[in-house]
Amino acid sequence: MIVRRVETDPGYEVVVGRDMLGRAAEVLPPAATSGRIVVISDENVAPLYLPPLRAALRGACSDVTEVVLPAGEEQKTLARAEELYGVLYERRTTRHDTVVALGGGVIGDLAGFVAATYLRGVRLVQVPTTLLAQVDASVGGKVAVDFRSGKNHVGTFYQPLAVLADIDTLRTLPAEERRNGAAEVVKYALLMGEEMLTPVEAALGGPEPAGAHDPVGLCDEQIVAACVGYKASTVAADEREERGERQLLNLGHTIGHAIEAAGGFRHHSHGEAVGLGLAAALWLSQRCTGLGPDDAARGERLLASAGAPGRLDDVDADLVVEMVSRDKKASGGEVPFVLLAALGRPVRGVHVAPELLVEVVAWLRER
Ligand code: NAD
Ligand code: GLY
Repeated sequence: MIVRRVETDPGYEVVVGRDMLGRAAEVLPPAATSGRIVVISDENVAPLYLPPLRAALRGACSDVTEVVLPAGEEQKTLARAEELYGVLYERRTTRHDTVVALGGGVIGDLAGFVAATYLRGVRLVQVPTTLLAQVDASVGGKVAVDFRSGKNHVGTFYQPLAVLADIDTLRTLPAEERRNGAAEVVKYALLMGEEMLTPVEAALGGPEPAGAHDPVGLCDEQIVAACVGYKASTVAADEREERGERQLLNLGHTIGHAIEAAGGFRHHSHGEAVGLGLAAALWLSQRCTGLGPDDAARGERLLASAGAPGRLDDVDADLVVEMVSRDKKASGGEVPFVLLAALGRPVRGVHVAPELLVEVVAWLRER
């Protein structure tokens, strides 16, 4: 078991390890189990992981109930949040009670949003069960629902009381979901440099055809905890994304999000889009921030080992460029890019000329 502390206000611990669900009552802080508990999960995760979690929580709390939702991004709506407020109301939830989010990033974002806003905030515990949610979504307090065409458009920052990341749950993930998380792990490796590149390369093996690899080697306590540690320190330095440090986590995401949006969130999964966005960041870094060709080639090999797509297909290049300028982080029409001066040496706030943006998207389509 590895514990990483997130020094926000208030701070909390992320516990990463095996059999974490079965040990929930002993590992969670007492405040998490001192009131009533409502576990929110989805129909894929609940049959597998609700029984052991419920049994463990009942060791410390006599009132554990649950809500199981359909799976999928479509659940992240205000309408679904309102239904959940209704459940909390019926169950007489108070601020001393705890919402436990058991599932991937969808459940974490939705249940987290509901916990943050019901009674102006009830206690929240994140129990992430996807690689993406363990290394990214469950840590840092961003909670949200989608609104109209805006992904995560309505939300807030709300730190949980604790995060319990049980590596054993990653075994039942479909390979495609492991690839989604793998793209984020590659992002951390590019940001962190040698200390993370070497273990991630070892865990992934050599380059694989796009979409074929199951990056199961990344479902590892040390690797997940290292990603969490990097995210924790970035979040602690810039809890509400006001100072700039948290932007580092956007490496590859500016173009990645634009690819997802331009494809109507259907053509490329989040992980595929981030993989392409990271390839674009390596290309731009060579032209804007002096990344050397050997470093860029190493980054490209790592992306190929994670099964990232070779090229951008079926998405209109002009629309990708247009979507970049509509990025949530844009101010005054300018989108600040995170690029690399070297592996492990990110630079934020980089201006990328519009012509270069058009060129990199064309390169993604042709390479
Ligand atoms: P997800 O929650 O939709 O989970 C993916 C699929 O895997 C679902 O079908 C789910 O039911 C299933 N699943 C989950 N755990 C499983 C397990 N252990 N075994 C078998 N099946 C399992 O997707 P995700 O990739 O975890 O999260 C994506 C969401 O996270 C998006 O909505 C995104 O906006 C959000 N996100 C939030 C942050 C943040 O900082 N809050 C960061 C990144 C992403
Ligand atoms: N996923 C980026 C962040 O949490 O800031």
